[in-house]
Amino acid sequence: MQELLIEGGVPLSGSIRISGSKNAALPILFSSILLDSPAVFHNVPRLRDIATTIALLRVLGRPAAFTDAEGHSVRVENGPLSGEAPYELVRTMRASVLVLGPLLARLGFARVALPGGCAIGARPVEQHTRALEKMGARLELESGYIIGRCASLRGADITFDFPTVGGTEHLIMAAAQAEGETVLRNCAREPEITDLANFLNACGAKISGQGTDTVHIRGVAALRGCDYRVMPDRVEAGTFLAAAAITGGNCDIVGCPVEEITAVVAKLGETGVTVEPHAGGASVRRNGKLRCVDVTTRPYPGFPTDMQAQIMALMTLAEGSGTVEETIFENRFMHVPELVRMGADIRLSGSRAVIRGVPALTGAPVMASDLRAGVSLVLAGLAASGTTRVQRIYHLDRGYERIEHKLEAVGARIRRV
Ligand code: EPU
Repeated sequence: MQELLIEGGVPLSGSIRISGSKNAALPILFSSILLDSPAVFHNVPRLRDIATTIALLRVLGRPAAFTDAEGHSVRVENGPLSGEAPYELVRTMRASVLVLGPLLARLGFARVALPGGCAIGARPVEQHTRALEKMGARLELESGYIIGRCASLRGADITFDFPTVGGTEHLIMAAAQAEGETVLRNCAREPEITDLANFLNACGAKISGQGTDTVHIRGVAALRGCDYRVMPDRVEAGTFLAAAAITGGNCDIVGCPVEEITAVVAKLGETGVTVEPHAGGASVRRNGKLRCVDVTTRPYPGFPTDMQAQIMALMTLAEGSGTVEETIFENRFMHVPELVRMGADIRLSGSRAVIRGVPALTGAPVMASDLRAGVSLVLAGLAASGTTRVQRIYHLDRGYERIEHKLEAVGARIRRV
């Protein structure tokens, strides 16, 4: 089993280039099910979840592959579609359920494994399935699979109970080729949703209102593939801002999408970290000691749940005390006991964590439980004295491309063993 070994205490300095967004690339790649001709996607990060997506697309009849061994372009070919998404692939990545709607739109049939829960919560998909049923799909659960059938998907007026990122993306894809007009209300507004809608529009879809809480989609008969560049990963960018800050470093984050992480930049500002946007990204530096702050996770444009563990790691070494309230997922505090093993003072009560800053953390063997929890331990390790051994780093490989190389290039003593 691979681990990351980190010798902490080096202020990071230099530039880090941000990769393409995992959470935008996944639905965009899945949406190629809807296309009638090949498409080429650029700026696709080389991650485990992308490999899973490519494998699933192949099974579904959309042969996909990176165009060369090192690059970041993926070509997706056309071919006869299959409606069967097997459990072996879906279980390793919940987002795979997003193929259900596009397959129903194309084939009128799909058999897609129901994803289980994951370390951060139960993560049901009833908002997706209820909305697809409103569009005319008949869905049944059989032996752990959702079996969907429809003569055709019909446009509908759908109000989500709460903003769901995956649900909004799923229904945009399904509606793009449904008959008639769909209105989605109470939508999530995450930039990754806008990126998906922009891609589909470039292929000939008629989607408007993406990035707001009401999205209108006029179904079209056919979509043709095109070349598309995936947006930069705003969570990776936020994570590296936090890495520079926790080490007291000074970095240039090349390609940092500052306008899409304003809530993160504002909170970092309160902690005493300056992020200065420039044409190619942003520079980040810390002004003296860090201060604790109060953070509540919210749907976009609020503070993202995907940055909660990282800002908590930062606060473990800040002056005073602060709170982190998690409102999106019910179990996203798995990093807390690990940070405590490194000397952090964090008390948990339900969905709220109270953090009192300590003068120093000490390296320890710790375990990643999910992607963002795992990276918060890397951040803590970069600032801790002594050696931190982060185990179960396959979680990190799902969402951070070559993280140890990127950190090493700005001075971190980190290696994969
Ligand atoms: N939810 C339901 N029912 C549904 C759909 C969602 O109860 O039908 C709940 C979820 O269990 C969760 C909340 O609603 O508690 C929000 O879920 P949402 O659907 O918005 O999230 P998601 O689409 O499953 C995406 C990202 C997550 C990110 C969340 C929130 C992808 C592939 N995943 O998940 O990313 O945390 O939005 O912003 O885009 C990560 O990258 O580490 C990650 C977990």
